[in-house]
Amino acid sequence: MFELTKEQIKKFEKIVFVTGAGISQESGVPTFRGNNGLWRNYDSMKLATIDAFYGNPKLVWEWYNERRQNIFQAKPNEGHLAIAELENYADVAILTQNIDGLHQKSGSKKVLELHGSIIKIKCTVCDFKNEILEEISEIPPKCNCGNILRPDVVWFGEALDQEVWQNAVILAGECDLMIIVGTSLVVSPANTLPIYAKQNSAYLIEINPENTEMSPRMDLTIKNTSAISLPQLVSIYKKL
Ligand code: APR
Repeated sequence: MFELTKEQIKKFEKIVFVTGAGISQESGVPTFRGNNGLWRNYDSMKLATIDAFYGNPKLVWEWYNERRQNIFQAKPNEGHLAIAELENYADVAILTQNIDGLHQKSGSKKVLELHGSIIKIKCTVCDFKNEILEEISEIPPKCNCGNILRPDVVWFGEALDQEVWQNAVILAGECDLMIIVGTSLVVSPANTLPIYAKQNSAYLIEINPENTEMSPRMDLTIKNTSAISLPQLVSIYKKL
């Protein structure tokens, strides 16, 4: 599966994972594209926008509440756990588009959440930010300043947190192995991260049961699920 020699692997000093919804699929968290892209017959691509939120904040909050409840019950799978274990053997950073916190739950330490977090909340007007500590019963929730609170996530058309993004670009540009797992690589700017890695002549591996538009640009494509593939990478490191 990982057709790499021990010598090749030993040369990789900095590993960066770029992860997407597919890595959490085996934890029971649905992906965005493909068969599971609907919620109550709404297209999730259309709900994840600032216009949808201001048009119907109650509906969008219901969607996030339901997803948060599902995510709270979800457990990291063998794929998340393998990445966390790999940190014992190599310098690992994770640049994730996921908002589910499952990398952190599995024990990974260096995780950059490019699209925010479903357990965080922020005010639509003032600087208030917090973690969601208990179930939100009254929706949409209100800030002490009187304005509506929103999930602290990045919606379509919104800019990423600049500090998080700058750090992600630096890590991508410095790594010598990038492993791209469970992402369709269709959403910008996250889908440019492999390009930054390639500029540093990094080796690119994609783990995805399906092809993506960037598959032909990979050095190695593993057409299998992350929960099956990633533990095999850890086994290789254990035997080095
Ligand atoms: N293991 C690995 N990959 C998988 C698995 C699995 N078990 N199951 C599905 N996949 C792959 C799919 O083939 C697909 O290419 O995961 C990918 C999931 O793609 P998307 O649903 O498009 O998710 P993602 O790439 O994370 O979406 C990016 O778009 O909707 C926005 O902000 C949202 O962060 C999200 C962004």
